[in-house]
Amino acid sequence: MKKMTDYDKYIPVAKPIIYEKVREYVCKAIDEKALSGTFGNYIDKFEQKFSEFVKSDFAISTTNGTNALHTALVALNIGKGDEVLVQSLTNMATAFAVSYTGAKVIPVDSYLKTGNINPKLIENLISKKTKAIIVVHLFGHPVDMDMIVSVAKKHNLLIIEDCAEAHGAKYKGKNLGTIGDIGCYSFYANKILSTGEGGMVVTNNENLAMRCRSIKNLQYGTENRFNHSGIGFNYRMSNITAAIGCAQLENIDYVIKRKRYIANMYNILLKGIKNLILPVEENYAFNVYWVYHIICKDNLTGKRNALMEKLNYYKIQTRESFWPINRQDAYKNQFIGKDFNCPVANFIGENGFYIPSGPDISDKEINRTVKAIKLSIQDVIT
Ligand SMILES: Cc1ncc(COP(=O)(O)O)c(C=O)c1O
Repeated sequence: MKKMTDYDKYIPVAKPIIYEKVREYVCKAIDEKALSGTFGNYIDKFEQKFSEFVKSDFAISTTNGTNALHTALVALNIGKGDEVLVQSLTNMATAFAVSYTGAKVIPVDSYLKTGNINPKLIENLISKKTKAIIVVHLFGHPVDMDMIVSVAKKHNLLIIEDCAEAHGAKYKGKNLGTIGDIGCYSFYANKILSTGEGGMVVTNNENLAMRCRSIKNLQYGTENRFNHSGIGFNYRMSNITAAIGCAQLENIDYVIKRKRYIANMYNILLKGIKNLILPVEENYAFNVYWVYHIICKDNLTGKRNALMEKLNYYKIQTRESFWPINRQDAYKNQFIGKDFNCPVANFIGENGFYIPSGPDISDKEINRTVKAIKLSIQDVIT
């Protein structure tokens, strides 16, 4: 194996940028002794600013993206006896949120180019119990929403958009989260907008927004506060987290610009490599390239793990793609039969991985990553 240099530093897949303003806003919240929402005003500010950012009428903060999805599903009255179609290639939080409600998860296969749900497969999976579709704007690339909306209308299905990986992405110029009935964001440390942990539900439907607000806050009674109107959850964001969110949101355009710059550089430098599928930007899409995700093909098929090992040797951190819902041990034996097979998601799950693409990666580090990929491919296929 050829060596690069022993002096090279390890390049991580991502590190969040934390802006100076974060310190200022957090200190202000601490000085005001406003740790929780009701004692301060950062929650209101963050929700307001975030709804302006995604152009939604309402935004409701939660403790994380998983809880945002759970809150949305409960608000839509999804529960035991219902089936929900879910893009198979996703972080399992998407499917688990459905399982928390008692509804059944039905996995749907992907397009190879984007990893996103293939809307043409939906109708075949609809049963009398189907109530909703969850689409996931994977790795920063929006789902082809027109087809989803039309099939949902035809069969009277609700649409939940999982936007955890796609802050700022656009479908035909439209922001994500309100093309369907409701959208959910995550602010986990590696996300485009990071507060460490955190989440947001967005919608244009006032009734739904009010339900979400109540559900994520224990469903306190309206007349007698302590006579709760239903079983609620404590998914309240803290005022400190919202203070971080307000500061980070002021700089989100810069992060998105950086993500697109990094993707463009990788696209140019990796272009000639025939046995890799690189990310795309479909003509309907504004891709924010949350991570730069690539797929091994041809004579690299089945060699993804070996390639990742070599890259690790060259001090380049990588992460494998998601493992599809239909193959999860957590749902063992639930998806038997050809209808539930997701060959494209399986292929991506086995052959996909992502490379360092955090907003603060330097040009030099991108060049070093590309050089390491080229050397690693040679090592793996010879
Ligand atoms: C597509 C998707 N949905 C949901 C989540 C869950 O978000 P959180 O980690 O904030 O609970 C994540 C990852 O974090 C994700 O990538």
